[in-house]
Amino acid sequence: MSEPTDAVTMEKIVSLSKRRGFVFPSSEIYGGLGSSYDYGHYGVLLKDNVKARWLEAMVRERDDIVALDSSIILHPEVWKASGHVGGFSDPLIDCRFCKKRFRADHLDTEQCGKRPSKRPGETEECDLTEPRQFNLMFQTRVGAMEESGVDVYLRPETAQGIFINFKNVASIARRKPPFGIAQVGKAFRNEITPGNFIFRTLEFEQMEMEFFVPPAEADEWYRYWVAERLAWHVRYGVRESHLRIRPHDADELSHYSTGTSDIEYLFPIGWSELEGIANRGDFDLTQHTNASGTKLEWVDAGTGERFVPYVIEPALGVNRSMLTFLIDAYDEEVVGERERTVLRLHPQLAPVKAAVLPLVGKDTAMVEKARDLFDELRRHYSVEYDDNGAIGRRYRRQDEIGTPYGLTIDEQTLEDDTVTVRDRDSLEQERVPIGGVRARVSELLAADWRSPKNG
Ligand code: GAP
Repeated sequence: MSEPTDAVTMEKIVSLSKRRGFVFPSSEIYGGLGSSYDYGHYGVLLKDNVKARWLEAMVRERDDIVALDSSIILHPEVWKASGHVGGFSDPLIDCRFCKKRFRADHLDTEQCGKRPSKRPGETEECDLTEPRQFNLMFQTRVGAMEESGVDVYLRPETAQGIFINFKNVASIARRKPPFGIAQVGKAFRNEITPGNFIFRTLEFEQMEMEFFVPPAEADEWYRYWVAERLAWHVRYGVRESHLRIRPHDADELSHYSTGTSDIEYLFPIGWSELEGIANRGDFDLTQHTNASGTKLEWVDAGTGERFVPYVIEPALGVNRSMLTFLIDAYDEEVVGERERTVLRLHPQLAPVKAAVLPLVGKDTAMVEKARDLFDELRRHYSVEYDDNGAIGRRYRRQDEIGTPYGLTIDEQTLEDDTVTVRDRDSLEQERVPIGGVRARVSELLAADWRSPKNG
């Protein structure tokens, strides 16, 4: 076996995603819609696993965080109080010559509309406007009648739904700071910078957690969450060499933040934000208290002590996290004479945990045993059955979708009821009694895992 190479490019990820049914360009039969993507079968399974691992780490494995699912469309006053109506905008520049629109703060990475080897403004024909602020929120209308309807927004972050429910959760769930509220859900932004696949899209899912703390403890918890979130990406297989923490400079901070650190990943497009961890101070609870008239503060029923908690917020995009896992897992190697592409996904993220493969697809006895095993396993985890075509081709298909274990039913199975368990990464095979396959696969899935790309 040859040494694995880090051969990944964004083009290869886009191509594999389409070929194997992870991600399709949206509205493709109508020519596509920029920055929009649809998720196929394996994309849905992978995305669900990313969300499940996040919820486990944030809610199930902890005593101090509870879950919430708030509406996408909130009262429009929410977005005035949060500062999004006034301040959630990008500075944009138009070119009167090529008619392209650019982020004023990204000119050093954008391409001229006529001469892609140049940056906007670098050719004699470029005719750029002054920057203008462009709000990123999508607006729509609630109500049947145009005249009497109310203008509302599709949420650009899930966080505000958490802040406006602070009182409900703190009193009804009887939580005392430090405690957190976690939410996974869709967010929408009218992003004008297309490209880079699912890195930045018009709609995406966020996994956000607002951790409410006594103000004096905010710095300590901020550092805690930066470390904790970095460890999560590593736990699920992202190479540490491809992750770094970048604290924001003062002039980069969002309007609500007194301190933010990005966890950056070395994407094929360069180091870019994967997740943000922000110290939002008491900005949001104070803003909503002032705008709504409802006091969003912590009051100790026993002592009467009261304070407005500070908020530490780790915020991660599901789709961007999925893209990171795909990129980090992608590998190519030559095995024997053959080249194979393999997704070395953490087994707990892999869309399919095991593939049941009768060696000879036309052998009735093998097929029967394989179907029985498949029917047993599918009650416990996501498995596939495949008897179509040469065994090598079937393995390669499973390698490309990242299935960690191949279970092959062969001649020997018919003699002694054992099955080979093939490991996707090492290609080692072990024989396991058919009745013990479920226990063995469960054991393998629960074990610690480290990407072989770590060397
Ligand atoms: N509540 C804070 C907040 O929304 P953000 O840095 O704007 O902060 C958090 O977004 C995360 O959401 C980002 O780190 C990224 O993973 C993801 N994200 C943001 N905009 C996105 C977009 N247009 N497409 C895909 N993911 C996006």
